[in-house]
Amino acid sequence: MSTPAPPGSLPSALVALRSNKPLLFLLAGALGGAAGSVLAEFAPDGGPNASPSMLIVATGLWSAIAASVLATALFAVGEWHQHRDVRPRSVQKILLFGALARCVFAERKADRVDRLLALIAGQPKLAVKRQLALLDGVLAAAVASRKPVKFPQEPPVLEELKKLSGTALQSRVAKLDAALVWPGKPGVPPEPVIPPLSSEQQAQFDLGRQLFTSTCAACHQPHGLGMEGLAPPLADSEWVLGSEQRLIRIVLHGVSGPLRVKGAGYNLDMPAMGVFDDAQVAAILTYLRREWEHGVAPVAPATARQIRQQEAKRQDAWRQEELLKVP
Ligand code: HEC
Repeated sequence: MSTPAPPGSLPSALVALRSNKPLLFLLAGALGGAAGSVLAEFAPDGGPNASPSMLIVATGLWSAIAASVLATALFAVGEWHQHRDVRPRSVQKILLFGALARCVFAERKADRVDRLLALIAGQPKLAVKRQLALLDGVLAAAVASRKPVKFPQEPPVLEELKKLSGTALQSRVAKLDAALVWPGKPGVPPEPVIPPLSSEQQAQFDLGRQLFTSTCAACHQPHGLGMEGLAPPLADSEWVLGSEQRLIRIVLHGVSGPLRVKGAGYNLDMPAMGVFDDAQVAAILTYLRREWEHGVAPVAPATARQIRQQEAKRQDAWRQEELLKVP
């Protein structure tokens, strides 16, 4: 569950989802549209037996819907079970809880993480296995993102978690503590000061968010974490935070072939997005450079124009080795 599944095998969380028809249909309903019907067909008796292509779609969906729908599902299911049933659940269902918790934590939104932690702290006494699975999901996401989740102040629920008994729980809570920060937490360096956007740049950012959501997010996902087999992450990507000269070229002409992003290798194709005009390219990139806690300088339309002119003859997508030669 913590590493991407090898091709052809089904992630354990999906196996669990498949065997939990009420949850599967809850998710399918919440998703709606084509994605919802694919998910509904994924039920053991609801459609074709999981064919390889089906599994790819479902695996993709799994990360696509991670952010919002899975969070909602976790809270619905989690809170429902909290009062109804303290018997140990089946291993698969417990794994599913962990996978859902991982999705919520991976999104790194303090309010939802807070709610997730409250759910963990509030589990009935006998549900230690479930608490452990939820915490393991959280820690898997924390390890993968390597960035702490920022709270406006110390979350009171952390104190409650520290009161849980048992060394297995406590060692996990200690790791969780290290993955959360708030202003004034001992040992945490003060926030770097990010120069605020001017009102013009803010308007660019807002336009950029719209364009990103309607175009780039189809592959890179609204949460910017990318999707296995479809697109690499943009959140914390060195390509996004680094040279604007390279970044503008990627958008204008696309990128193809082997590419390293955040230490992982990709070998895919991104289509050219040069149909956006200079102001739109600058807006999208300003958005990318300020969303997900990024604090990098915005991109000016004039810079986009300059690079478009410099590269006017270019037809092909960029390759990594060419981009790396650009300053
Ligand atoms: C059709 C899917 C798709 C769309 C739409 C798309 N991308 Fe990409 N993007 C990719 C793929 C695939 C790669 C990696 C290509 C490779 O492996 O060589 C990539 C790579 C990137 C990279 C460099 C690697 C990284 O993750 O930082 C950036 C930056 C980027 N895209 C930004 C954008 C922006 C901005 C948009 C919208 C204007 C966009 N992409 C739209 C698929 C897409």
